[in-house]
Amino acid sequence: MIYFDNAATTRMKPPGVIEAVAEAMRSMGNAGRGVHEASLDASRTIFGTRVLLADFFGAESPKQIAFTANSTESLNIAIKGLFRPGDHVITTVLEHNSVLRPLYEMQERGMRLSFAGSDREGRLCYEDFERLIAEDTKGIVCTHGSNLTGNLVDIERVGRIAHEHGLLFIVDASQTAGVFPIDVQKMQIDVLCFTGHKSLMGPQGTGGMYVREGLQVRPLLSGGSGVQTYSKTHPAEMPTALEAGTLNGHGIAGLHAAVEYIRAAGMDVIREKEQSLMKRFYEGVKKNPKIKIYGDFSDMNRCPIVSINIGDYDSSEVSDELFMTYGIATRPGAHCAPLMHEALGTVSQGAVRFSFSHFNTEAEVDRALEALAELTADE
Ligand code: ALA
Repeated sequence: MIYFDNAATTRMKPPGVIEAVAEAMRSMGNAGRGVHEASLDASRTIFGTRVLLADFFGAESPKQIAFTANSTESLNIAIKGLFRPGDHVITTVLEHNSVLRPLYEMQERGMRLSFAGSDREGRLCYEDFERLIAEDTKGIVCTHGSNLTGNLVDIERVGRIAHEHGLLFIVDASQTAGVFPIDVQKMQIDVLCFTGHKSLMGPQGTGGMYVREGLQVRPLLSGGSGVQTYSKTHPAEMPTALEAGTLNGHGIAGLHAAVEYIRAAGMDVIREKEQSLMKRFYEGVKKNPKIKIYGDFSDMNRCPIVSINIGDYDSSEVSDELFMTYGIATRPGAHCAPLMHEALGTVSQGAVRFSFSHFNTEAEVDRALEALAELTADE
């Protein structure tokens, strides 16, 4: 299989990740619940991963990193734990349903919601934020990179706007954590939500959130914490505040190995390879007049994603044909980003998304270009 669905899940994991999960399954007990070696082993691995991630994202301290199952969980905790009925929140039309649906839920409960728009290439209209900010505005929730077009958002610019107006700034880094430098303090991010299974190249079921020191987020869950057992309320201190029950220690061990790999290989090296594969693919499809391409390619410093359609063909049929005939894995249809599809005019057709990993090769890209040339020749 030629795997070009890395924006959904990176399937080719770095050396050591699978082994780290297997080893953790052999050795780990329950973190923070005992003083025997198996429990300490789990505690050490989990704490070590917090340290790595805190360093990776420029957090004030490892305790500001809480583990969750994925970005969706982190975003639900952040959105429902920071906003209340009566607040006004601004988001963007670039967002994934993991941002939109919790926000719509809050809207049902009486929160006011506004959207910064985009142009036909899916570029964010930054000036909309200033226009939308009102007396009751409490925060901005914004993606760092669109999962559909691959367009990047200038997070530092949005962070500046948010903080000039005293707003909370929540960032969805699902498509960027691990491949683009993120410095939560420089970018003035209050809550950063990330997942482990995409460009961080860890296992599914891992993810987390950075919460700025001093910011209190109401938890979604309460329960066992291993500390303050006789208190009727869940501990308020980070990271325990946002971690109820046994963590996915086995997965976190894999995430630890993945982050170590990124640090050793170099995030810049990884990103440059992915972007060079994306560029090669983009230059190839651009020559084909039957292929429509979505997104802004004026700057190749973007997420390694190219979404296309062939004429008016249904994207699912094209994706199916790519896999059944050529063994090329892509994601078709609607990409959980309904407002972005509306802006691009692809609501009924969807789009065929090619997303690249640095483990992909130029030969694989060329094979995909040949396949598309054959499919469009038959049209
Ligand atoms: N959010 C993932 C994607 O964009 C699953 O495909």
